[in-house]
Amino acid sequence: MLVGQRMSDLIGQTDLVKIPSLSKLTGSDIFLKCEFQNPGGSIKDRAAKQLIEDAFERDELRPGMTVVEGTAGNTGIGLALVAKSYGLNMLAVMPNDQSPEKERMIALHGGELMAVDPVPFKNENHFYHTARRIAEERDDYWWANQFENTSNARAHYLHTGPEIWQQMEGRIDTFVSVAGTGGTIGGNSMFFKEQDENVDVWLADPDGSGIFEFLKSGDYVSEGGSMTEGIGIMRLVENFNQAKIDHAVNLPDQDLVTLSRYLREQDGIVLGSSSALNVAAALAAALHKGKGQRIVTFACDLGERSASKLYNEAYLKGRGLNPQPEPIEQLLERYGNLGDKIISTHWRGQAARGK
Ligand SMILES: Cc1ncc(COP(=O)(O)O)c(C=O)c1O
Repeated sequence: MLVGQRMSDLIGQTDLVKIPSLSKLTGSDIFLKCEFQNPGGSIKDRAAKQLIEDAFERDELRPGMTVVEGTAGNTGIGLALVAKSYGLNMLAVMPNDQSPEKERMIALHGGELMAVDPVPFKNENHFYHTARRIAEERDDYWWANQFENTSNARAHYLHTGPEIWQQMEGRIDTFVSVAGTGGTIGGNSMFFKEQDENVDVWLADPDGSGIFEFLKSGDYVSEGGSMTEGIGIMRLVENFNQAKIDHAVNLPDQDLVTLSRYLREQDGIVLGSSSALNVAAALAAALHKGKGQRIVTFACDLGERSASKLYNEAYLKGRGLNPQPEPIEQLLERYGNLGDKIISTHWRGQAARGK
């Protein structure tokens, strides 16, 4: 067992677990990488650690400085934890419509919060631009920039991918991931394709995100919306640009209700909303491809981070969702024929971008 020198040393080396219920239903082994085991409770701890450690390496950060980032929550929690473990401060600029669970966690970790109104990206008051501006105006503030700073994908290329590869004994048929910045799908897919070009990489995209349509037609267009937080992008960012993707599937929030309840009852795991989307997409991939696959995806965080939304009956009703899960047999039948909700693609990144 690892003996860390600081809390951030405990990030990574998470367990992998087979999902018994869905593996039995589909005849394919479906595995979950348990990213909620990170000390900040989510997969974003990995990005936070790499962003800060690489910045120290480049002499961009010195103890006593403040890390500033525009974040929907989990990155802010990870950055606060890593910042404190390195003698830094943390300022999270976040839209004020995110789960109070995450705001509370950033504050509990000693991070400072700046809440801003949710506005479109082109508006200069968007949380992303606000964080950048603060760092530009102050020498003692450093902008993590999780969207364009590829230390984010590097965390997964250097650590998550190799951990999974070892845990799966080098046998992965299908890898499934959501994308928020694309760091997770970027770094992992790059690593897996280097090991075995045949690993089939699936992007899980919710309604309200433009990536599915971008991969299909080249345009960032979206329909509807999603309760998932920090998932989906409406522009090409450098971490997503690292990704190598073979399939994409678009799924509605109603299916997150069904699968989160099903796994809670059958397997004893309470998934966060992005994890429920990952699992839904892994199920779709299993049914699309037939029995005998080895499929791996992430439990990015746990349901406690989505308690006020995915697990809140009144909230679900307010969004026009049915809090009662669909019978699993019915969902399986639908997933057997998702039609144009699944596309094949050959996304290998846009060569000229950022160069
Ligand atoms: C719970 C959760 N899952 C997944 C993601 C997306 O990961 P990535 O930014 O690496 O694409 C995020 C991003 O904020 C997240 O908070």
